[in-house]
Amino acid sequence: MKPIKAQISGVGKYAPEKVLSNLDLEKMVDTNDEWISSRTGIKRRHIAADNETTSTMAAEAGRKAIENAGLKPEDIEMVIVASLSPDMMFPASACLVQDILKLPKAGTVDVSAACSGFVYAFSMAAGYIAMGLHKNVLVIGSEVMSRFVDWKDRNTCVLFGDGAGAVVLSAVDQNSPSEVIDFILGGDGSGGDQLSLPAGGSKMPATHETVDQGMHYLKMAGNNVFKFAVRTMTDITVEILNRNNLTADKVKLVVPHQANFRINDAVRERLGMTEAQMFNNIFEYGNTSGATIPLGLAEAVEQNLLKRGDYVIFVSFGGGFTWGVSLIKW
Ligand SMILES: CC(C)(COP(=O)(O)OP(=O)(O)OC[C@H]1O[C@@H](n2cnc3c(N)ncnc32)[C@H](O)[C@@H]1OP(=O)(O)O)[C@@H](O)C(=O)NCCC(=O)NCCS
Repeated sequence: MKPIKAQISGVGKYAPEKVLSNLDLEKMVDTNDEWISSRTGIKRRHIAADNETTSTMAAEAGRKAIENAGLKPEDIEMVIVASLSPDMMFPASACLVQDILKLPKAGTVDVSAACSGFVYAFSMAAGYIAMGLHKNVLVIGSEVMSRFVDWKDRNTCVLFGDGAGAVVLSAVDQNSPSEVIDFILGGDGSGGDQLSLPAGGSKMPATHETVDQGMHYLKMAGNNVFKFAVRTMTDITVEILNRNNLTADKVKLVVPHQANFRINDAVRERLGMTEAQMFNNIFEYGNTSGATIPLGLAEAVEQNLLKRGDYVIFVSFGGGFTWGVSLIKW
């Protein structure tokens, strides 16, 4: 059986209204705008309101993606939410999104692959479509990182923000100029302790002690993650280009995970790409983990950066460690 082609038929994004600037952070921890800007590229991040959660933000981005695709709620056959900050351990945030958006025919599942979650979720959607299982799949990355960082720890709190992005992936005719071409996905659990949220799971259930010790906050060995990120994102992008007989100059746009501007710029230089080929919006949102790529893609579309048939790459790395790259024709 020949795989069925898939294309992105709609995109959507959501960012909370409240903005926390580097200057605001100067009043909260021992940091300054100059340090944050020069080390990370971040100027601001958006922070969820008290009544917002990962699923409410995911639903808002998802609703826009469905509208943008010109589809109705009943057309969506599967919702996949990538998140490391779900509303709860279970039910899955995808179930909550299904209920908010009233999607009568959708299956629901969450993906846990930290900052690589969106690329993994996108590959699952492409697989469902290729097999003929579904025609329209809603893939969302959504995070409320602000509830999982320690606002007293300047090493981590300055880096993260809240937001959501979504795409609808749809089955298309074999003659379509748009298609999902290829994926490389990987993981290395030996790096798990470099970037994690230790407590609240079955290994270290919530107790007064875990709360007192701040074990429900994200922990990170920043320097190690930085080096790993640059090397891995470069290597997998080169690999996916090589095995599809493409060179870097043929790529219209890379929409990378946004963890640090310096990481993406180092990857860009190693790939020999121009600044226009590498999408960056970290200055506005910080690191929104699983949401960065769909949020970035929605903004690239808003800015008319893409036309049908352009080669586009999504590339990410994150806790786990996990990594992933996807090559599509827009
Ligand atoms: C975290 C990160 C920005 C730190 O940048 P860096 O250039 O490696 O900085 P260092 O860790 O060497 O720290 C340098 C100094 O700045 C200090 N510092 C850390 N955070 C600071 C802050 N917010 N404000 C001011 N100073 C800070 C450190 O204490 C250290 O001080 P010291 O030299 O006196 O010990 C960078 O390593 C990074 O982005 N790593 C990847 C993180 C990531 O991608 N995480 C998510 C993965 S999905």
